[in-house]
Parts: sequence; C-alpha cells; structure tokens
Amino acid sequence: MIGRLNHVAIAVPDLDAATKTYRDMLGGAVSQPLDQPEHGVTVVFVDLPNTRIELLHPLGDGSPIANFLARNPAGGIHHVCYEVSDIIAARDRLTAGGARVLGDGEPRIGAHGNPVLFLHPKDFFGTLIELEEV
Ligand code: CO
Repeated sequence: MIGRLNHVAIAVPDLDAATKTYRDMLGGAVSQPLDQPEHGVTVVFVDLPNTRIELLHPLGDGSPIANFLARNPAGGIHHVCYEVSDIIAARDRLTAGGARVLGDGEPRIGAHGNPVLFLHPKDFFGTLIELEEV
C-alpha cells in the first residue's frame, strides 16, 4: 500500500542555521523559506535525488510542532511521509486494522496541495507517519 518516501520532516529551533547547515555543510539544494500559516509552520525544502527533507519551524501561536520542539529543544525528526495512491482506501484499511488516524479522520490538504492524513505514533513504533495521496 505505501509507496515512495515523499519526505522526512525535521523540526528545527533555528531555521536559518539549519538551512545554512544543509546548504553549506551538507551541500544540499535548499529552497527559500515558505510560510504555511494554515499549517503553523515555515518550511525550507531540501531536494535530494530520491526524496526531500523538510526543515520545519513553528509559525504563529499554537503551531503543531511547538510542543515537539519544547520536548526536543535541539530539534529532531518530526515525521516521515509515505505516498499512497488512494488515501481513503488507505485510511479505511488502517482503521480496520486498529490504527488511529489523528484529528477527525478526514484527509486535509497538505503542504503540497494533496490530501494528507497523520497516523498516531504509538501505533507505528514511535514514528509520526503522514500519508499523502499522490
Ligand atoms: Co509532512
């Protein structure tokens, strides 16, 4: 059911410093910072040949990654995103198997304009999983 690794999202306490590290030390192709107020984050994309890294920084009050950074002040991997071809079919298969979908269980439009869902990390070995319909 799951397909390509769409991205790995890393929450960072200092977006400028993290961007410089990925660009200058790691030699990555980094984007300009992109504010995504509807998701409460500012994102820098790092394009890799086979996937993408997303550097996430909180934007505004109540950012979904604020608590994560409070618990992980140096930053850390926040979630991984797998592609699926049919997000409703994926959700129904997962919930039938006992997995918990975060929020109201309905896909919403994610950072790339496609429907996404998040799965409870306690059901997946401590990893927050995003599914994106591509
Ligand atoms: Co994501």
